[in-house]
Amino acid sequence: AQGRLWGGRFAGGPADAMFALSVSTHFDWRLARHDLAGSRAHAKALASAGLLTDDELAAMLAGIDALEADVVSGAYTAAATDEDVHGSLERGLIERVGPELGGRLRAGRSRNDQIATLIRLYLRDELRVVAEGVQLVVVALYEQARTHLGAPMPGRTHLQSAQPVLLSHHLLAHAWPLLRDFGRIQDLDRRLAFSPYGSAALAGTSLGLDPELVAAELGFNGSVPNSIDGTAARDLVAEAAFVLAMIGVDLSRIAEEVILWSTVEFGFVTLDDAWSTGSSIMPQKKNPDVAELARGKAGRLIGNLTGLLATLKGLPLAYNRDLQEDKEPVFDSLDQLRVVLPAMAGMIETLTFHTDRMAELAPRGFSLATDVADWLVRQRVPFAQAHEISGAAVRYCEARGMELTDLTAADLPSIDERLTPEVLSVLSVAGSIASRNARGGTAQAAVEQQLREVNDAIDSI
Ligand code: ARG
Repeated sequence: AQGRLWGGRFAGGPADAMFALSVSTHFDWRLARHDLAGSRAHAKALASAGLLTDDELAAMLAGIDALEADVVSGAYTAAATDEDVHGSLERGLIERVGPELGGRLRAGRSRNDQIATLIRLYLRDELRVVAEGVQLVVVALYEQARTHLGAPMPGRTHLQSAQPVLLSHHLLAHAWPLLRDFGRIQDLDRRLAFSPYGSAALAGTSLGLDPELVAAELGFNGSVPNSIDGTAARDLVAEAAFVLAMIGVDLSRIAEEVILWSTVEFGFVTLDDAWSTGSSIMPQKKNPDVAELARGKAGRLIGNLTGLLATLKGLPLAYNRDLQEDKEPVFDSLDQLRVVLPAMAGMIETLTFHTDRMAELAPRGFSLATDVADWLVRQRVPFAQAHEISGAAVRYCEARGMELTDLTAADLPSIDERLTPEVLSVLSVAGSIASRNARGGTAQAAVEQQLREVNDAIDSI
């Protein structure tokens, strides 16, 4: 049958249910242009090995160009009888250049090295798009941090009031993981940059074809050193699924905070109308759907990664048809992030922060207790005792329904004689924040330094 790449040893075609299981054109068609790029490179390798004349090569390349134009315009699509993108495009080429020439292209290659190469080419291209989406989110965080540089907020651990921090410091704390994700994409690209073309089915090619030539044609840094590994390995696809899942998880942590912050109880942010939704029944509602969908999709991305790892576990070398199952999970993760990243960027860049409310809450929950202890340490009190004394001050305030910032000189002697009125000078959010001025701390100068570093990192994406 047309589009079937085998048949000589078979008396008949596949059963309908067999074909329905086998067919992959509905998801691997997105690799068509990469497949055609591989075919061009392979045709050149055939010519340089003397297996195509110059005229044949020219006719072959013209046929591939014509086919590509039809694929791009949609004039050529997979037929119901095509099993996968590779077989379909061979059929399309044969229809354009005839069976005599078109039938020569498959020499020395297998769908096994073809697909292993195409998925790397495709991932290299797509991960660049993901990197741009990551950049959008980092820029949105950076701009909000810059705008609100000196504004304080309650910093939390265990979601409990901990110490005051700058809102800008907190926002940049979400930028750094995303910048590391970008670094992961760069690292992965270095590993993806080797072409399996020439590995053929598993043992390598016997026709004098040069894998390095094909690799260079396709923009790889070189060809793989082992043809079995080249066709059987999918660790790089799994690594891509991991990086994508990690991005999803990092976005989800931002999303969770935006969801909390936009509640009446927190009241830290208001979402822009364009980046939120209403309720069909409750007229007052403004829901953080972007954040919720991002948080939900993270679960899906994790599922794609774990599903793929489960598929790979225990597969013997070399190619097994199970490997066809690598594509849909990673394609889905890419597709999800393509829509999630710009939406998250839009939501973040249009958030209105209620900095007065955040400033009001920053000293609450005894968040300056550590500053009291640190002040005592500067008076030469051992920290363990300082911790006890500051804790006693908290207990004193809690019993009287007051905050540490409500303490006056008259309160201090009954807490501990080492608390002299000078301690009241450190009981301010601004003082607490300013005192954390070492590299990486929340003092404004340290955050300004961070902003410069984030800006440089953004430019490198
Ligand atoms: N559609 C296959 C895949 O995605 C291509 C390789 C098929 N190779 C084979 N020997 N059946 O893995």
